[in-house]
Amino acid sequence: MCLSDRERGVKPLNARKIIVGVTGSIAAYKSAELVRKLKQQGCEVTVVMTPAATEFITPLTLETLSGRPVATEFFPAARRPEVLHISLAQWADLLVVAPATANVIGKVAAGIADELLATVIMATEAPVLFAPAMNAAMYSNPILTANISRLRQYGYQFVEPEAGELACGGIGTGRLAPIETILEAIEGLLSCSPQGTEKLIQRGSSELSGKKVLVTAGRTEEDLDPVRFLTNRSSGKMGYALASEAEKRGAEVILVSGPSSLPSLPGVRLISVRSAEQMSREVKQWFPRCDVLLMAAAVSDFRPRNKTTSKIKKQEGLLLELEKTPDILLEIKSLKGDKGVGGFALETEDGLTNARRKLKSKGLDFIVLNAPTALGADANQVTVLGADGKTERLSQMSKLEVARGILDRVVGLLRTKCSDS
Ligand code: C5P
Repeated sequence: MCLSDRERGVKPLNARKIIVGVTGSIAAYKSAELVRKLKQQGCEVTVVMTPAATEFITPLTLETLSGRPVATEFFPAARRPEVLHISLAQWADLLVVAPATANVIGKVAAGIADELLATVIMATEAPVLFAPAMNAAMYSNPILTANISRLRQYGYQFVEPEAGELACGGIGTGRLAPIETILEAIEGLLSCSPQGTEKLIQRGSSELSGKKVLVTAGRTEEDLDPVRFLTNRSSGKMGYALASEAEKRGAEVILVSGPSSLPSLPGVRLISVRSAEQMSREVKQWFPRCDVLLMAAAVSDFRPRNKTTSKIKKQEGLLLELEKTPDILLEIKSLKGDKGVGGFALETEDGLTNARRKLKSKGLDFIVLNAPTALGADANQVTVLGADGKTERLSQMSKLEVARGILDRVVGLLRTKCSDS
């Protein structure tokens, strides 16, 4: 645990030396804003561009904004006495690659250093933060997933892309994270590394190492018209606590989250969604590749049957017609096999009876019955009902402690499944 610079009253970015690596994604133009914001906060910024990045944005733009020469070539025509990639690698307090293509991530994961940026990344001892941006299909390619996970194991950090409209057309996960989010991640890394040159601590293997855990969190939003939607008060705290705890125990964690104001978790792959339909699509895509699903999201059970494209006018009364959303746990039930699946229930009456019914009908290994006061709160009082018929009532505790209890159960479950097979 380290005191943040904010807690010490220090501006975390002031006078820090930052390399902004820019690669060949259409989002390269957004790096100009990142450089500008870093400069405004008092950083010294050197931009390193891959040859492909220079096709999207000119070095002149980034040179003007950073106030320093932009490095693009491994062997610049005007030779300098120092070895460029080593001097850059040693100069930096932090290196951020924004946008990061599948190519640069793949190269570093494979130890390939065939151009300046990849070489600087390999040579630096400073924290390295990747902000991927690419087409949704590329982002969900399992090769990229494996590369990200490999890099994470070595202590490289990631700011997840967002879901939304993509430059290549269509909608999906692959948009560069907002610049503010990238700045927060940079601040976070630097404030835990006062000299900026501390090596990131590598994680040893632990109970869930080698396991993939899929967690859903938060609420969903079901659109009624362009400005209104149906939702609930879920904050995402329980799901984020589960994701964080699973990651601490060595799992590779994919967090599919509905709208939430919680900060993204270092080391956890975040997939942001809004509606039950989008959450269902992502869970169905990731579930087959995972060992465990913890379905903590408060998925809306209903959505408006029709969504209007223009705002519904004020009127005397309005009768809303609702339809059922896809029941995600039911949809993936037939794919379960020997995967571990845990669900959540929140009931205002007959909690145990209803939870037991859901446990059975959804084919779960266990279900966590929440107290109705849990929504949005930091603490929770839960009862865990197992498929083996056992019921365990935990006392009121923080959601992180509840998450630890649930992950203990998951570890036990995986051991049993392993010894049975
Ligand atoms: O049946 P009920 O919706 O109350 O069950 C709650 C459990 O089912 C939670 O784990 C929740 O994430 C999941 N769920 C789902 N798909 C829905 C609604 C809830 O998977 N449409």
